[in-house]
Amino acid sequence: MKKILITGASGFVGSHLVEEALRRDLDVYAGIRKSSSREYLQDERINFVELNFEDKDQMSILMKRKQFDYVIHNAGVVSAPKLSDYMRVNFEYTKNFVEAIEASGEQLDKFTYISSAASYGPVPSKDLTDFLKEEDTPRPINAYGEAKLASERYLASLHDFPYVVIRPTGVYGPREKEILTFFKMINRNVEGYIGFRRQHLAFVYVKDLVRAVLDATTSSEVSRKSYFISDGRYYAQWDIGKTAKQILNKKTLRFHIPVTLVRSIAWVLEQAGKLSGSYPPLNLEKVRILESLNWKCDIEPLKEDLNFQPQYDMEEGLEETLAWYKEQGWL
Ligand SMILES: NC(=O)c1ccc[n+]([C@@H]2O[C@H](COP(=O)([O-])OP(=O)(O)OC[C@H]3O[C@@H](n4cnc5c(N)ncnc54)[C@H](OP(=O)(O)O)[C@@H]3O)[C@@H](O)[C@H]2O)c1
Repeated sequence: MKKILITGASGFVGSHLVEEALRRDLDVYAGIRKSSSREYLQDERINFVELNFEDKDQMSILMKRKQFDYVIHNAGVVSAPKLSDYMRVNFEYTKNFVEAIEASGEQLDKFTYISSAASYGPVPSKDLTDFLKEEDTPRPINAYGEAKLASERYLASLHDFPYVVIRPTGVYGPREKEILTFFKMINRNVEGYIGFRRQHLAFVYVKDLVRAVLDATTSSEVSRKSYFISDGRYYAQWDIGKTAKQILNKKTLRFHIPVTLVRSIAWVLEQAGKLSGSYPPLNLEKVRILESLNWKCDIEPLKEDLNFQPQYDMEEGLEETLAWYKEQGWL
C-alpha cells in the first residue's frame, strides 16, 4: 500500500484530498498542526502527523521515519491577517519542507504542490477570448500570487526533484467558507457585485480538483510539470448568482458597488490597519483580484496528459454544494 502525506488536511481542499486518497486505498497521513480542527478527518483509516514547517530537523526526521511515497503539499494561507504571511507560509514553508525532504535522503515518487492561478495573475490582454497558458509570462497581481509563483520557481530550480504543480482557479464545494458569503447574501434576497463590467471567471468543483490532483500525484508518467485546472467553462460573476438563485428558489434585489468606492474603502481600512498592526479582510490585494476581468485558463495539457474530464459544471456543483450548506445549517 502506497503511503501519502497530505498537508493542510484540516482545510477545505485538504479534507477532500484526504477522502479521495482513502477512496483510492492509499495509506493516508493527514498533515496538520496542533491547533487544526479534525472535524472533517473522522475516518478511522486516517493517520495523523503534526508538522512544523519552521522546524526542518523535525520534518526531516519525520520524513525518514515514515518513508512516504507521495506528498501533496496543500497547506497554505488564502486570506492572511498580515501581508508578510503570504511569503512566509506559501513560499518559505514550502522551501523548508522540500529542504527537509531532501535532507532526509528519502526519494519520493511525487511531490505535488497546490499552487493557484494567482501565480500567473489574470489574463493581461484586453482580448477576452484570451486565456492563461503555461508558456505565458507569470504576472501575479498580489502577494498571495507572488508567493505561490516563488514556490513554483523554487521547485522548478531543483535538480531531479519529482514535482507536479497544480494551479486551481476558484475552488468551490462543501466546506468552502469564502464564496459562501455570496450565497448567504442570495439566500437573504440580496445580490451584490463589485463593478459593472462582465468578468470571465473560472471555477472548479472540489471533487473534480481532488481527482485530478490524485491522478497527477500517482501517475508515473507526469513529473516536473505544471497544470492549470478549471471546469473548462467560463462564468460571468452574475451567472453564479443566477444559478444559485434558481437552486435556492430566491428572488433578489441586485445592486452594483463601483470599484472605485470599494477601492477607497479598502485603502482606508488598510491605513487604519497599519495603525493597529492588523490587515483588514477587505484590502487592496483583494480588490485587485475582485476587479480582474479574465481568469480563463488552458486545461488542454491536463486533459492530454492525465485524461482530465471535469464531471461537474457550475450548476451540478452548486446543486451539491448548496444542498450541503443547507444540511449543515450554513444557509
Ligand atoms: N480555495 C480556493 O479557491 C483555492 C484556489 C486556488 C488554490 N488554493 C490553494 O489550495 C490550498 C488549500 O486551500 P483551502 O481553500 O483549502 O484553504 P483552507 O480551508 O484555509 O485550508 C488551508 C490549510 O492550510 C493549513 N495552514 C494554513 N496556514 C498554515 C500554517 N501557517 N502552518 C501549517 N498549516 C497551515 C490550514 O491548517 P489549519 O486548519 O490548522 O489552519 C488548513 O489545513 C492552499 O494552498 C490554497 O492556496 C485554494
